[in-house]
Amino acid sequence: MCQFRSLVRELDMTSENELMRIGISLPKNLLDKFDEIINYRGYSSRSEGIRDAIRSYITHYKWMADVKGERQGVITMIYDHEQRGLLTTLTDIQHEFMSIVQASLHSHVTHGRCLEVILVRGDGSQLKTLAERLMSQKGVESVKLTTIMVGE
Ligand code: NI
Repeated sequence: MCQFRSLVRELDMTSENELMRIGISLPKNLLDKFDEIINYRGYSSRSEGIRDAIRSYITHYKWMADVKGERQGVITMIYDHEQRGLLTTLTDIQHEFMSIVQASLHSHVTHGRCLEVILVRGDGSQLKTLAERLMSQKGVESVKLTTIMVGE
């Protein structure tokens, strides 16, 4: 995490005038969804949309870095339940973190998608670790951690 913080600081100080070109591979359905959103929002180019997406990704992680101390919160997760082995993996991870997982609520959104809300309490850094572990699994569409400070 410390390494990440210094990277963020570097990014802040670097002028955005210098453009670098990168090549990325994306699943077609992900790109289609992205294009749909940037068209709807009126972006002039895909590149501008991607730049904005990366900026908000960085902002999100800076915000995550400030989650520390005793916290209570919820993890909201959306995933593809047809992804092989995913359900078991997600349950295993929650068992691994059972000292901070208080309860979970599962809702079947459609035939293939599930929404799960996990109630968590404990040290902020552990809450983030759990959220990141869940997010990194293939077939997990999104994970959002929302917390409040415990105590005064
Ligand atoms: Ni389900």
